[in-house]
Amino acid sequence: MSLTLLPSTLGLLVQDSFAQLRMDRKQCCAKLLVQPSRGLVDEKFIVLVQKVPPGLQLTVHTLYKCEDGHNWEAFGHYTANATGTVNVAEDPSLGGTYSGVEQMGLLWSLGPVPGSKPGLRMRKMNVQTPMEVTISAYEGHQTEGFMDKVPLASVLVERWYMAPGVCRIPITEGGLTATLFLPPGPGPFPGVLDLWGGGGKLVEYRAALLASHGFASLALDYLTSKIMLETGKMVGNEYFETAYRVLQQHPQVLGSRIAMLGLSFGTSVTLKMAAYSQVIKLRCAVCISGSHVQPVDGSVAQVLSFFNENSDKTRFSEENEVIWRELLLPIPTDPTLKVDVGRLQCPLLLVVGEDDQNWPARESAVDIKEMMQQAGNSHLLTVLSYPNAGHLIEPPFVPHARASKFRTVTTGTSVMVMCLWGGETVAHSRAQEDAWKKILVFLRENLYGGGAASLSNL
Ligand SMILES: *[C@@H]1O[C@H](CO)[C@@H](O)[C@H](O)[C@H]1NC(C)=O
Repeated sequence: MSLTLLPSTLGLLVQDSFAQLRMDRKQCCAKLLVQPSRGLVDEKFIVLVQKVPPGLQLTVHTLYKCEDGHNWEAFGHYTANATGTVNVAEDPSLGGTYSGVEQMGLLWSLGPVPGSKPGLRMRKMNVQTPMEVTISAYEGHQTEGFMDKVPLASVLVERWYMAPGVCRIPITEGGLTATLFLPPGPGPFPGVLDLWGGGGKLVEYRAALLASHGFASLALDYLTSKIMLETGKMVGNEYFETAYRVLQQHPQVLGSRIAMLGLSFGTSVTLKMAAYSQVIKLRCAVCISGSHVQPVDGSVAQVLSFFNENSDKTRFSEENEVIWRELLLPIPTDPTLKVDVGRLQCPLLLVVGEDDQNWPARESAVDIKEMMQQAGNSHLLTVLSYPNAGHLIEPPFVPHARASKFRTVTTGTSVMVMCLWGGETVAHSRAQEDAWKKILVFLRENLYGGGAASLSNL
């Protein structure tokens, strides 16, 4: 290696190292503390910047590299107090991707870094690894170019869907495409059958998180299952009964204490099974962002083609995003076109985002309530309705996607569209936090409790 340096290069190097020295002085003093630095995704953390000059302007920044390679960031602008401290849980952000006192704004306001392709949605697909989020403090109120700046201090934080000791078991018996998550310990545990919506795929993260909270949870792929890919045929309703039996008969599951939880199209299945299945006996059901409107005698394929028949009611936003909420409107009066929720015998929790642009969740909840009042079982119903929340009501701190690219599964074909989900970021994030807490309480009361009929104290 040659050690000869041109004088001009040497000058630059010397300047550089002076700059580095100045930086090091600040770096040596600033301390960044995150507690816990390893936790569940729905756990709050405390972020403290300490030992900086009083009154210093700071930017606290999070960077998350998604499994698909996309970078997400969030940041808040702070001023250190008289003791040279910023406490994100107590001090207001004066600007950035969130403002005001927001303990978890550094996560829920994460967005794709500038220049990313449009329509991204953050979803953790491998739940056996944590989300690794880098939290950094930068001097000044910065808004861009974070990757080229030297932070005063950084901490790597792990956010897990699977708590230590949660067991992940792929399930193929009975032709299922599913994953069972068991909580730590010998059990037996009450069970939850967990269904996502019209995008298909085996999506595990919510079931993993439910297991972290004490429920044996089965994530089920019912639209793009292995059987469907092999035969080209959509699964029949017995597929859900098989899934229920697998859960029910597992030695570590309390067979008489099982719930179903569905989001979007998953609510269609949940309500149908809860009302009509001779096999599936539920302790309770949770339906997020969905509807009871569907041909009640129909299979999954028939329900999907019923939706498609109404596709002329599709609307588009100014940005040309697809709005599907009107496909099921007006709510039919024909009893063969909606699940007879008057038949339900178990507590039902409906979670509604009032700005849902994808499904008529609000109108459906109103109709469900009326039907149950008429049938005399409305004491089983709890509705959580959130103004300015959208369709994708996820576990807490998952960043809000108002619109994203979405591949629909329909019989035979699949189409990629830019889908408008709705919701306004702050309200939607609060809704996710509140709804998740209440969903856990509802499941705990009905699955662990003495069989209380409905949810009190919400
Ligand atoms: C600065 O903030 C820290 C952490 O919130 C607090 O303990 C300390 O008392 C504050 N100092 C002043 C002078 O307000």
